[in-house]
Amino acid sequence: MVSKVTFYDTTMRDGEQTIGVNFSIDEKIEIAKELDNYGVAAIEAGFPAASQKDFEEVKRIAEVVTNAKVVGLARMVRNDINAVIEATKNAKHPMIHAFIATSPIHREFKLHMTKEEILDKIKADVTFTKQYMQDIVFSPEDATRTEPDFLVASVQTAIDAGATMINIPDTVGYDTPEEYGEVFENLRQNIIGFDTVGWSTHTHNDLGMATANALAGIAHGATEIQGTINGIGERAGNVDMIEAAAAIQVRHEKFNVETDIVLAQSKVISDVVARATCMPVAGNKPIMGRNAFAHESGIHQDGYLKNPETYEILKPEMVGATASLPLGKLSGSHAVMSKLNSLGYDVTRDDMKVIFPIFKSVAEESDLITDEQLKVIMQVVEEKEMVSYQ
Ligand code: KIV
Ligand code: ZN
Repeated sequence: MVSKVTFYDTTMRDGEQTIGVNFSIDEKIEIAKELDNYGVAAIEAGFPAASQKDFEEVKRIAEVVTNAKVVGLARMVRNDINAVIEATKNAKHPMIHAFIATSPIHREFKLHMTKEEILDKIKADVTFTKQYMQDIVFSPEDATRTEPDFLVASVQTAIDAGATMINIPDTVGYDTPEEYGEVFENLRQNIIGFDTVGWSTHTHNDLGMATANALAGIAHGATEIQGTINGIGERAGNVDMIEAAAAIQVRHEKFNVETDIVLAQSKVISDVVARATCMPVAGNKPIMGRNAFAHESGIHQDGYLKNPETYEILKPEMVGATASLPLGKLSGSHAVMSKLNSLGYDVTRDDMKVIFPIFKSVAEESDLITDEQLKVIMQVVEEKEMVSYQ
């Protein structure tokens, strides 16, 4: 198995296919700079042939990114390929992502092409591109619904013509992790020169399996994960790179691979993308959701205060987040006491016998108890008991 997994970001291409998302050039440049610092190996900056705006954006990003490869997307159409060559020509590391669909349904209804015509196109267009670009990603679109032997033939044709990275899109988010792993196994067994190119996963989240599928690909020989920040993308989105990178780190003993991702920058980049897309991250989303490191129930808060690892599998600071113990009707005396002490009250477990029932009666009527409400509760207790806890 591989010892290093790289990340290929497509927030500004597949991510921009999210309904209602249209980044401005300034937003794209800000995202590109953050991604470069985040440690991604490649940034797919757009689809240069799609519009003049896309072309200009890829061109500008190619000029500002210093570490990562800058990639433009192209259909296997000469005009698209030429647009990528031109838009990325000033990049330190230019790359093209050329794709053509290979599954029966796409061949018959979308492309109206036979298998032979598709193989010929792959051979001709990758050979043409290779004269101008060294780094070529080839994607057989809808790979997971393609006949396994035709997938092998398509990928082999691309490698023989000069592709340096093969991307396996689960375009419609259909596969289970077991099936997606098998796709890589089949390619590993049948592709001549499997180890001479890189292999990337590209998973969509239609059935909620994008992260599991990307990780299954890694377990079966993939070397790179294509994904987006916050999991944005067409329909239900793409694999969230932050989730995948965190899983690889937290379950290091299982995956046994390293990445260059600066995980502690996750919150910064997640916030930048959430702002630019006007799509706040859902509260219960893994890793970046505001509830991901929040513990409200008394049993959890008590365990957490005794040892955070009782309920936390990764430290929030590892991903640039912070833990919280919001106080509500399910909170226990231990957490309330700890909060009061942090607010400057000197209360003991004995004092809590008086304070906690009053807290409870207020909490039962509220969603969450704020610091201000706690101060009012303490005022009531101090007046009633004629003591001061400050
Ligand atoms: O999901 C997909 O198939 C794609 C291709 C362009 C690779 O995004
Ligand atoms: Zn996609």
